Amino acid sequence: KPAPKTIIVSNRLPVKVVKSAEGLDFQATEGGLATGLGSIYKSGNNLWIGWPGATLTTKEEKKNTTEILESQSMVPVFLTDEDLELYYEGFSNETLWPNFHYFNQYSIFDENTWESYKKVNQKFADAVLAECNAQDTIWIHDYQLLLVPELLRKKKPDLKIGFFLHIPFPSYESFRLLPRRRELLLGMLGADFLGFHTYDDTRHFLSSVNRLAGIGNDHGIINHNNRQIMADALPMGIDYDKYHQTAAHPETLQKEVEYRTAINTPQMMLSIDRLDYSKGIPQRVRAFEKFLEKYPQYQRKVSLVMIVVPSRYQVDKYKELKEEIDLLVGRINGQFGRLSWTPVHYFYRSYPLHALSAFYRMAHVGFVSPLRDGMNLVAKEFIASKLEKKGVLILSEMAGASKELSDAILVNPNNQTQMIEAIKDALEMSEEEQIRRMTVMQDTLQRYNIYHWVDLFMNRLDHVKKRQLAQK
Ligand code: UDP
Ligand code: G6P
Repeated sequence: KPAPKTIIVSNRLPVKVVKSAEGLDFQATEGGLATGLGSIYKSGNNLWIGWPGATLTTKEEKKNTTEILESQSMVPVFLTDEDLELYYEGFSNETLWPNFHYFNQYSIFDENTWESYKKVNQKFADAVLAECNAQDTIWIHDYQLLLVPELLRKKKPDLKIGFFLHIPFPSYESFRLLPRRRELLLGMLGADFLGFHTYDDTRHFLSSVNRLAGIGNDHGIINHNNRQIMADALPMGIDYDKYHQTAAHPETLQKEVEYRTAINTPQMMLSIDRLDYSKGIPQRVRAFEKFLEKYPQYQRKVSLVMIVVPSRYQVDKYKELKEEIDLLVGRINGQFGRLSWTPVHYFYRSYPLHALSAFYRMAHVGFVSPLRDGMNLVAKEFIASKLEKKGVLILSEMAGASKELSDAILVNPNNQTQMIEAIKDALEMSEEEQIRRMTVMQDTLQRYNIYHWVDLFMNRLDHVKKRQLAQK
């Protein structure tokens, strides 16, 4: 009998294939799900099933990719161009993503993309079925795969299945706008345990299950098809030690010297996001612009370093956002910039870990102001990188992370006046106060790190399974 293993299933694998003239190259994937789980999956007897980030067409390419990934305990699910257009760009990112982030004016409803979503979820379920044994644990991740739990349950009624949602679960008032809302909920209910980042997400989910599927619950315990299911809040942590140690690495320190020489202002603010309308990037740039107008004594004294990682560029709303940011940054640098001072250093690209760490280290202020965010790991990574405990985090109340990091300067990203004052307060905070707040936040993140999160998740899942057996 083979030893039991955990199969992680997500749309994206933690590595992506990049096709170049020389052949196939393998790089780390960006985004909270991949960076967060990337640390833990190698440590145990785990397998990760997902899409390798490029459309591979020839047999040769597929075979090479499969072999290389297999050697690192990964199994690729190959998606066609049509899958990407309809399932990934379409239903996942033009229907679910905007709806779950309360951008309903961006949501597109289209039967074709729904059909493709069902088909591709089946593809993922089949890939799991091909790999799994009865005693394995299956852990499905995120909004792209909401139907997979039930698809597996139908084939293997006793399988141990967990599900975690990395983005917000919206209130019933938003969720009920989706044409396929009931199917989506029933898909999720194939899992035994469902985890969400915050208590509110859990509550919203339970409320939708109650009102749209007519299934009630008792403190998060749901009885469905004679099976007990549990839903609970489990905020995802980071690999704290990894970020803490990387901040002390010689390569990081060398990068920091390089960057400090280039950005020659006394103070520096930092923001890092994927290009996404949920991240509130234009609102942040405008707040910075107004701050420089209102407090001109800060001109030439502070710069905003803004890293925007390319994301979902085929989706129209993302293209439009890119243009908006380009214009805004151009406007503010054109208006305020001097030969010796660039107000906004804007980079549209991704960076390797040591470079990110150098930015985290040198920033006086981490400026994280999403309009809506499931968690936001960047905020946590910034805190973990502050070895001397100096630095201030400005954090949006709309990020899941704000529930744990109440010692940040919390802002409502729609309140520009508050954002402007938050920038000033952050830049002027005494070192004593910085250290006090940072100490509290670091203690929290060190304790509730990613390993702790995985343990909690697995414990809950085991607990539900035991209760189910006791019921039989
Ligand atoms: N990140 C990265 N390369 C970059 C910039 C960011 O790998 O150039 C990582 C970052 O360290 C973080 C993740 O991308 O772990 C972003 O996660 P977050 O939860 O903040 O937002 P998401 O992209 O998941 O919405
Ligand atoms: C968020 C989602 C992930 C996703 C990541 C990057 O973190 O929760 O599921 O992988 O963004 O987005 P992408 O569309 O490039 O996979």
